[in-house]
Amino acid sequence: MATKKEKVGIIGSGLIGRSFAMLFAAAEYEVWLYDIEKSQLSGALEDIKAQLKDLDSLQLLRGSLTAEEQFNNINTTDNIEQCVKDAIFVHECAPERIELKTSIYAKIDKMLSDTCILATSASALLPSKLAVNIQHKNRFIVAHPTNPPFYAPLVELVPSPWADPDVVPKTKAIMEKLGQVPVILKKEIDGFVLNRIQYAIFKESWRLIKDGIIDVEGLDKVMSAGLGRRYAFIGPIETAYLNADGMYSYADRYATMIEGIMATFREPDSFSGPVLDQIQSEMEQMVPMDSLQARRNWRDKRLAALAQLQKRMDDAEGKK
Ligand SMILES: NC(=O)c1ccc[n+]([C@@H]2O[C@H](COP(=O)([O-])OP(=O)(O)OC[C@H]3O[C@@H](n4cnc5c(N)ncnc54)[C@H](O)[C@@H]3O)[C@@H](O)[C@H]2O)c1
Repeated sequence: MATKKEKVGIIGSGLIGRSFAMLFAAAEYEVWLYDIEKSQLSGALEDIKAQLKDLDSLQLLRGSLTAEEQFNNINTTDNIEQCVKDAIFVHECAPERIELKTSIYAKIDKMLSDTCILATSASALLPSKLAVNIQHKNRFIVAHPTNPPFYAPLVELVPSPWADPDVVPKTKAIMEKLGQVPVILKKEIDGFVLNRIQYAIFKESWRLIKDGIIDVEGLDKVMSAGLGRRYAFIGPIETAYLNADGMYSYADRYATMIEGIMATFREPDSFSGPVLDQIQSEMEQMVPMDSLQARRNWRDKRLAALAQLQKRMDDAEGKK
């Protein structure tokens, strides 16, 4: 006899909500997608169908269900109670505005079961600020995805300070079941980890362009043809570890140089003015403003190809 599917509620059917709907559907959950805009829900379904078709043709579908079976696991509703009632996991994917998110939590608080985990995709809002006033704050966690979640599977898990001990391990297990790669922050911090690192790179890039050291095209190549090539497979710490004979050897060889360069880093600039104009203008030479969608499609094709390569290599190494 087939076992009953566990129910997951997703609030908000935009870019991130519809991606999570696909991921949960592929992992054989019964998905209920809710939005305040009915047209968003119908648009989400059309988009999901098209995405599943593309993923199928690239042999990148997650799980073992067909595209049609995955699609059939997704239900839509304009009734929030129907979305969250009896769900074991609710993923809120509404816009990044604190008053909007907290009003949604206040509304669903009484509808949630006491064991349901309430997660948010919030990019920067802190769990201690988001969950402060709800009865179920002990079930609250940030599960911040990377866009697009299908090709960039990282999810940052940041529990609320009041989270029950099972909330982190259960959310981690659910994300792993979806095929995502969860990392756990031991405590909350502005920007979490991904955006802090992204903005640290941005801060130094800005400075190097401002000081006339390199142009925008050259700067981006440093990442795409240099650092980024390795970072698709290993992070900066393992990169250092392998670039010498372990970490002590790396420190022996390079610590003095690294400390000297780090000492030349300066305070952040304002994100405006002539440097912003210069960056926009140089970017327009490379990617005209009327070709942004074509360039996004180009990027996504390469991300899909990279995902295929990673999957092939993982399969060959016997990883799931
Ligand atoms: N887009 C990204 O790159 C990205 C990456 C990581 C995290 N996030 C985070 O994910 C969340 C969602 O972002 P997105 O890019 O999917 O936004 P989006 O604008 O694409 O989608 C938001 C959806 O929420 C719906 N909505 C608005 N008010 C609502 C309400 N009261 N109840 C239910 N639905 C409501 C909208 O109709 C829309 O369909 C945000 O917190 C964002 O910061 C976004």
